[in-house]
Amino acid sequence: MPDLSTTWLGLSLKSPLVVAASPLSREPDAVARAVDAGAGAVVMHSLFEEQLTHDQMAAHRFIDATVDLDAETQGIRPGARAFTVGVEPYLRELERIKRRVDVPVLASLNGTTPGGWTRYAKRLEEAGANALELNLYEVGGPEGETGAAVEARQLAVVQAVVQAVKLPVTVKLTPFYAALTAFVRDLETAGARGVAVFNRFYQPDILLDTLDVDRQLVPSTPAELPLRLHALARLSATTTLSLACTGGVHSGLDAAKAILSGAHVVQLASVLLEHGPQHVAVLQGELAGWLDGKGYKSSAEARGVLDLRSAPDPHAWERLNYTRMLDGWRARDSWRRKS
Ligand SMILES: Cc1cc2nc3c(=O)[nH]c(=O)nc-3n(C[C@H](O)[C@H](O)[C@H](O)COP(=O)(O)O)c2cc1C
Repeated sequence: MPDLSTTWLGLSLKSPLVVAASPLSREPDAVARAVDAGAGAVVMHSLFEEQLTHDQMAAHRFIDATVDLDAETQGIRPGARAFTVGVEPYLRELERIKRRVDVPVLASLNGTTPGGWTRYAKRLEEAGANALELNLYEVGGPEGETGAAVEARQLAVVQAVVQAVKLPVTVKLTPFYAALTAFVRDLETAGARGVAVFNRFYQPDILLDTLDVDRQLVPSTPAELPLRLHALARLSATTTLSLACTGGVHSGLDAAKAILSGAHVVQLASVLLEHGPQHVAVLQGELAGWLDGKGYKSSAEARGVLDLRSAPDPHAWERLNYTRMLDGWRARDSWRRKS
């Protein structure tokens, strides 16, 4: 059995297969089953900026309403902490999971603007999180905001969270940055220790019957993996940050591809929501079997073997692949062969 252990964000993990941020972490039993089946770490579902800002507003409104009360009445006023309705249950969930499993547990913060909410990172650290994943999910910034301004705003969020804690912080990114490797370099300067690529966009469809928006969350498929593999291969060649693959990993062979591209860990959401947390064991068996078959003694040995480090000019190489593929397709002409 090859050695599957890996180091991610400075944490030692027994396996690169990690439970991704998802509703699974709302159920400590499910988390424990994933860990028993081999998961090396767990990322909790997110605590959202909007949730935290709402909590702060509720606390302020309460204080405003009671500030003129006499000393006796003030004495029975509960502290502002009692009004952090969103954050308290989350902290309790985190503590429960920490008690159940012996692998690192990451809390997840999710937001896009710098502000007081980022200070909640400290509460997550105090509750026992081993690291933080900061999700910068946004489909588009405010109208008229330039790409440079979007990135500057997001870097300010990262800096604020990093400064609030001693824990390692990894940043979960969306795929559409004009210059991904440069932005990741800026994230490193801002103090991030890792990146997770990529968020899935939950692109709502249109319901033609009702002229409404269809907000159904459709699970991923392995077709979403190559976008991640390409980014990992580029990042693995250009950064020393820890790399997590998220999106489209449904088998141990998908995980092997991510590791060959440079991933330190592979996060799993849809596949576990579809097949159950114990399914980690299936992926682990497939990954170990593939590594063994290829003669790798460990997953670390396979990591980054297919990254772009050996390409002297990755940009030119990618353009060449692109033009070759389009040319090749014309020559094969699939529909003509079928008829
Ligand atoms: C039902 C569901 C809930 C999710 N909730 C979160 C969340 O709270 N925070 C987050 O960063 N990602 C969340 N995700 C995204 C996953 O962590 C993951 O990045 C994404 O689903 C792609 O991985 P997959 O192909 O393994 O599903 C969620 C995904 C699903 C399917």
